[in-house]
Amino acid sequence: HGTMKVKDNGHLLIGGVDVVEVARESEFPVYVLDEELLRKNMREYRKTFEKYYPNSMVHYASKALMTLAMCKIVESEGLGIDVVSGGELYTAIKAGFPMDKVVMHGNNKSVNEIKMGIENGVKIVIDNFYEIELVDKITKELNKSVDVLLRIKPGIHADTHHYVSTGHEDSKFGFIIKEDTAKKAIKQVVEKELINFKGIHMHIGSQIFNVTGYEKSIEIMADFIKELKEENIIVKEFDLGGGLGVIYTQEDDPMSITDFVKLLIEYVKREFEKRELELPKLMVEPGRSIVGEAGTTVYQVGSITEVPGIRKYIAINGGMGDNIRPALYGSKYDAVIANRMNGKEEELVTVAGKCCETGDIILKDIKLNEPKSGDVLAVFTTGAYNYTMASNYNRLPIPGVMLVNNGQKEWIVKPQSYEDILRNDIIPERLK
Ligand code: LLP
Repeated sequence: HGTMKVKDNGHLLIGGVDVVEVARESEFPVYVLDEELLRKNMREYRKTFEKYYPNSMVHYASKALMTLAMCKIVESEGLGIDVVSGGELYTAIKAGFPMDKVVMHGNNKSVNEIKMGIENGVKIVIDNFYEIELVDKITKELNKSVDVLLRIKPGIHADTHHYVSTGHEDSKFGFIIKEDTAKKAIKQVVEKELINFKGIHMHIGSQIFNVTGYEKSIEIMADFIKELKEENIIVKEFDLGGGLGVIYTQEDDPMSITDFVKLLIEYVKREFEKRELELPKLMVEPGRSIVGEAGTTVYQVGSITEVPGIRKYIAINGGMGDNIRPALYGSKYDAVIANRMNGKEEELVTVAGKCCETGDIILKDIKLNEPKSGDVLAVFTTGAYNYTMASNYNRLPIPGVMLVNNGQKEWIVKPQSYEDILRNDIIPERLK
């Protein structure tokens, strides 16, 4: 992946940085982030749109990986940001990110989150009827208008894990088209004094390889947009969401960002022209495909437990606290012994985390180069939904995020200390 190379001594280099040293300098794992690959992916999205569909905007889905420095990188690459909470919005605000390039999601935004969004002038993606009334009320209280999109479920099943499939009718997100539900919602929005209806949003799921789900959804949405037009409601903006898959193991074979964007554009142009609809401003919200492969977690190998005739466990200094995805979704990863990249002999092992939980297994049955205690294990494609889903289970500190580029290494998130973990603990007077 990315800028990875092998040094003469067999150590893995990422962004010119020896990640074996990085892992050995730390008691806990380190998330290593390859800045060059990150920027390349962002640029590929932006450039492809600029070339084939200039009236467009790419919003990075910050739930994949959000930090102050990430906002700076996103800003310098000319992308916008998609936030789903007050915490993500607050991060963008504190980073000085341009608020006219922020869209705000969420199926149950709090009053405070909506206020924060409207006060800062971000675009809000309305998810449900309750929220229409809430946004209306808050715009009136603040006497400030807001641009909105409505999230519509195209009613298809994306070909991915059901936990991350979101476009089907039974999903908790957005309005269905059936029974005129979405149309009723839009008509309500259009009536509101301080809410400006801009267009519609869809998101069918995540880690998707097969574009037919997008093709089908775009067709359904174009039909719907045509119906709206017949009632003089014009959709000026159309947001296609995120979802392009990445390579976790050799079984994964995603298309390139360029091909993906070109296909989306082709479908939109075809379906809109067929219905004689004016082409809308087009938006996408990629998360994983920007940051996933740019991340690698480096661990130290500690205990090795052989269960004779059954399996060999090698245990690492992290686990489900820094990567919940194997336990939560059964996600698969690929890994190497980063301090012996030149070797060949392979041994079938299972990589276990250090949490007190049987399910804390990061890689089941993986071939590694004769792992030994003291080795460094690099697990690939951990840039998305790892740090952002990390927890302090067992009171393990959340690892730091280190940005590497051209031989330079910089923390963009410091490793947590035990003090950080205790920061919000309180002993009430009567217990002292
Ligand atoms: N837009 C919306 C409205 C979304 O809900 C999401 C992801 C995205 C964009 C970005 O999707 P991406 O390009 O990253 O696929 N925690 C799960 C993934 C959950 C995705 C939720 N929504 C995982 O670790 O696989």
